[in-house]
Amino acid sequence: MSKVTVVGAGNVGATCANVLAFKEIADEVVMLDVKEGVAEGKAMDMNQTAQLLGFDTRIKGETNDYAATAGSDVVVITSGLPRKPGMTREELIGVNAGIVKSVAESILKYSPKAILVIVSNPMDPMAYLTAKVTGLPKNQVIGMGGALDSSRFKYYLSQALGVNPNDVEGFVIGGHGDTTMFPVTRLATYKGIPVSELLDKETLDKVVADTMVGGATLTGLLGTSAWYAPGAAAASVVESIVHDQKKVVPCSVLLEGEYGHSDILIGVPVVLGKNGWEKIIDLKLNAEEKAKFDASAAAVHKTNDILRESKLI
Ligand code: 2OP
Repeated sequence: MSKVTVVGAGNVGATCANVLAFKEIADEVVMLDVKEGVAEGKAMDMNQTAQLLGFDTRIKGETNDYAATAGSDVVVITSGLPRKPGMTREELIGVNAGIVKSVAESILKYSPKAILVIVSNPMDPMAYLTAKVTGLPKNQVIGMGGALDSSRFKYYLSQALGVNPNDVEGFVIGGHGDTTMFPVTRLATYKGIPVSELLDKETLDKVVADTMVGGATLTGLLGTSAWYAPGAAAASVVESIVHDQKKVVPCSVLLEGEYGHSDILIGVPVVLGKNGWEKIIDLKLNAEEKAKFDASAAAVHKTNDILRESKLI
């Protein structure tokens, strides 16, 4: 029996819960929200699709009742405000940090052994905050940004190549920010063929630029943050954990010397299995790539400092 809680039944949280149920990733999904009736209503709506879509997962919605989340194996935290057009993810820190902190503490009271998947923005600092305030073993705190950004990278690559996105491989590492994320083009492939052999530099540069502002582009179109890919990305992280799939996915995890950095949660490829993130994959970056990763880490450290200055950690 697996139980997954999704905190925040907004667009991203509800999409995540819907994918978890539809794909029967967990036996039980609990959605929690602060707005009276929203989680209950969305859960009821989803449960009414079970016969139409043929799934058996039970979905429960609750308003602010953490007791309902007790004994969760994995908890996805999506709480907080999404960005508005023109806003960076980092600008959300003032509002979202307090929310994420109190959610993480409440969750731990009822599910002390849970693996936490952080979605709230700014994602890397929110994962760092969660790691600090919960004191959980490092493998149990995972920021999901790289899973989403890599999916967008593969989408833009497949569009440029005119091929099936499922035949494209590629990692986005570094921070989950418009200027901090780093799509590693040298290691991206189409069926094992380096994409640099198939696309000219100008096209590849455009793929990278589009990937980096992938979230901002959608925020501009939608008037709020995207939700289908963010929700599905979080669900895919949960799936690899709950089903012990050992998939390699870029996620924000605590570095202790890996990639030359410490005391930071930032995106690197990790193996995801029943223990959370189980291993960091060393991509052996060249000097130019390492410089990009270092610049990204410096920016994430700077945002983490705001948490210290605000006495949140
Ligand atoms: C995004 O990139 C919500 O940060 C999320 O769409």
